[in-house]
Amino acid sequence: MTIRAVVRGVGHYLPERVVPNSEFEARVDTTDEWIRSRTGIERRHFAAEGETTSDLGAKAATRALADAGLTAGDLDAIIVATSTPDLTFPSAATMVQAKIGMTNGFAFDVQAVCAGFVFALANANALILSGQAKRILVIGAETFSRILDFSDRTTCVLFGDGAGAVLLEAADGTGTSDDRGILAADLNSDGSYRDLLYVDGGPSTTGTAGHLRMQGNQVFRHAVEKLAQTAHAALDKAGLTGGDVDWIVPHQANLRIISATANRMQVPMERVVVTVQDHGNTSAASIPLAMSVGKERGQIKTGDLIVTEAIGGGLSWGAVVLRW
Ligand code: ACO
Repeated sequence: MTIRAVVRGVGHYLPERVVPNSEFEARVDTTDEWIRSRTGIERRHFAAEGETTSDLGAKAATRALADAGLTAGDLDAIIVATSTPDLTFPSAATMVQAKIGMTNGFAFDVQAVCAGFVFALANANALILSGQAKRILVIGAETFSRILDFSDRTTCVLFGDGAGAVLLEAADGTGTSDDRGILAADLNSDGSYRDLLYVDGGPSTTGTAGHLRMQGNQVFRHAVEKLAQTAHAALDKAGLTGGDVDWIVPHQANLRIISATANRMQVPMERVVVTVQDHGNTSAASIPLAMSVGKERGQIKTGDLIVTEAIGGGLSWGAVVLRW
């Protein structure tokens, strides 16, 4: 008998304020047309003043629990993937834990920037397979609007705020790729690429939160190459190929990266969940947001084979193969 970490519930939350591309035309030298054609982004949500990452995460968590028909007391653990926690410490995960009224179990953050949710899923899977937890809420939550330099047109138009949550539960499987649940994961980092994508502040350097800096075209080049590689590696580990995939749920950074990766995997765009037009790049929140929206739209159904892939600062990148 094999234990599998199976998706039991999913939910998301987006802040109320919708920011269309046109708002940036007044702030920096850009156009709606440039942003749409180079990125696919049409709008994004920004958190209200005082609305924090753990607020967004807790709302997504509550919806995932409702979707699963469970309460906070049924959870063993919470993992929050974020690079924009409310405070340097404690973790956003413990703040979500308090906000949803969970006093048992454990909670911690994972920081792998845009790849954070994939890294968190792989860690949650390992905790479930090793018997340390039976039910884990894996959340991606971000308020990237707080670390944007609104005078830099090359970055400020790309990002948004939001949160998504996936509830994983231990279930018996047969050990084959027909099982529901996480089937394989592939994780990678190469810290020598630090300068391509980083935040120019932090507690042990400037003592401030800093602003996001990115060499976009370099990140783009790595993304197209590395995302297809890691997705193939994860599929290989599961004994599957691109032809078995029902849905790619990619990190939503740029429509051109999403379609180039799908093309390299020989998966048509009709089988890719795309939300970047409405959310922008919400970093670690983008994949669980897309999973939740994909389920709401009736795209993702029980039994579908999903590949999820992401790359972010570090660089760090990875993929998870799961049967929904
Ligand atoms: N409006 C108008 N012009 C702009 C804008 C803008 N908002 N931003 C950049 N430009 C200009 C540049 O200044 C440049 O002008 P120049 O030729 O006169 O110097 C020109 O457009 C082309 O710039 P590039 O950077 O080469 O444009 P590119 O086609 O690569 O698109 C983009 C830029 C959208 C950032 C793209 O490179 C990209 O998506 N990169 C990957 C981002 C990503 O995937 N990040 C994921 C991880 S994020 C994380 O981990 C936090």
